[in-house]
Amino acid sequence: MRVFVAGGTGVVGRRLVPQLVSRGHLVTATTTDPGKLDQVARMGAEGVVMDGLDAASVGQAVAAARPDAVIHQMTAISPTHAGKPDIKHPDRWFALTNRLRTEGTDHLLAAAQAAGASTFVAQGYASWNGDPQGGWVQTEEEPLNPMTGTAAAPGMAAMAHIEEVVLAAGGAVTRYGALYGPGAIDDQVELVRRRQFPLVGRGTGYSSWVHLDDAASATVLAMEQHATGVFNVVDDEPAPASEWLPHLAACAGAKRPRRVPVWLARLLAGDQAVLMMTEGRAFSNAKAKRELGWQLRHPTWREGFRLELTQASAFRQRDEVPS
Ligand SMILES: NC(=O)c1ccc[n+]([C@@H]2O[C@H](COP(=O)([O-])OP(=O)(O)OC[C@H]3O[C@@H](n4cnc5c(N)ncnc54)[C@H](OP(=O)(O)O)[C@@H]3O)[C@@H](O)[C@H]2O)c1
Repeated sequence: MRVFVAGGTGVVGRRLVPQLVSRGHLVTATTTDPGKLDQVARMGAEGVVMDGLDAASVGQAVAAARPDAVIHQMTAISPTHAGKPDIKHPDRWFALTNRLRTEGTDHLLAAAQAAGASTFVAQGYASWNGDPQGGWVQTEEEPLNPMTGTAAAPGMAAMAHIEEVVLAAGGAVTRYGALYGPGAIDDQVELVRRRQFPLVGRGTGYSSWVHLDDAASATVLAMEQHATGVFNVVDDEPAPASEWLPHLAACAGAKRPRRVPVWLARLLAGDQAVLMMTEGRAFSNAKAKRELGWQLRHPTWREGFRLELTQASAFRQRDEVPS
C-alpha cells in the first residue's frame, strides 16, 4: 500500500516506518524539521515537511503522496515542541498535542478523503484513563474517564474528538498504553534514578503499558486489515503502580521509590498524577488479539523493562536509525 505517516519521526514513527517498509509498503513520512529528512530517508521512506496545524500544508503533503492509507502519529510532547514537562498542568504541557489531536485530525481526515485514501488509523490512549467507577481492567465497551473539572480534561476531550471523528469516517483508533522502548521513557527513568518519581498513597491505581514495537505492529495490522473501531493496544499485564514502579526502579539500578501521601502529591503534581497512581483503571487487549491477530513480542512490561534497561544504554543505542 502507499502509506502516509503523519509524525514519522517520533518515538512511535521511528519504529512504525521501518516495519511498514519491511512489509513492502511505500511510505511517505512527515516531520516539521527539514533537518530530519535524512533520518526519514534512512528508514526507507520519503520525507516531507508538514505542519499538522496548517490545513494547506497538510492538504498539499497528503495530495502529493497519493496514499491508500493515512496514519496519524502527530503529538507535540517532546521538549522540542512542548517545552519542559509540566505534570501538574497537563492542559499547558499538552496544549499543542491537544490541537494536533483536534484540528490536526480534522485537517488530516479532510486531506485523506480529498486524496481518496480508503484507510485511516490514528493514535489514541489507554493506560490509566479507564472509568473510575468500573473494574481495574476494562474493555473498549466501557467509557474513558473524561477527568471533568481537572487540568487533564482538555486532553481527554481531545482524545474523545479523535475517536469520534475517526470512527465516523470509518477508520480505526489504536489506543496505546503507556509507551516504553527506545527513547520513550528516558525522562521518567531519569526521575526514578533521582528518586523524584514517588509512589502516591498505596500505589493502588492500575496502568497498562506497551512496548513501541508492539504498538507499531498493532498499527500495521489495523492498517493492512482496513480495521474500523477502537482497539486497546496494551500488553498482557495491567498492573498497579505499587508493582510496576519499584520494578522499573530496580531495572534502572535505582533505589526503591519514595512514598508520598495523597495530599502532598496533589499539591506537588496535581490531580492527574494522583488519580493515575491511586485510582487508575487499565485495559484489556483481548479485542486487538482476537480481531487483528496481534501477537506481542513483549507480553509484559516486567520482562520488557528488564530487557530495555539492563542492557547498558540500550535505549539510545537501539534507537539509532541505520545509515
Ligand atoms: N501513549 C503514550 O504513552 C505516548 C504517546 C505519544 C507520546 N508519548 C511520549 O511522549 C514523548 C515525546 O514523544 P515523541 O518523541 O514521539 O515526540 P513528539 O514531540 O510528541 O512528536 C511526535 C511526532 O509528531 C510530530 N509533530 C510535532 N508537532 C507537529 C506539528 N505541528 N505538525 C506535524 N507533526 C508534528 C513530530 O515531528 P518532528 O518533531 O520531527 O517535527 C514527531 O514526528 C515520549 O517520551 C513518548 O514516549 C507517549
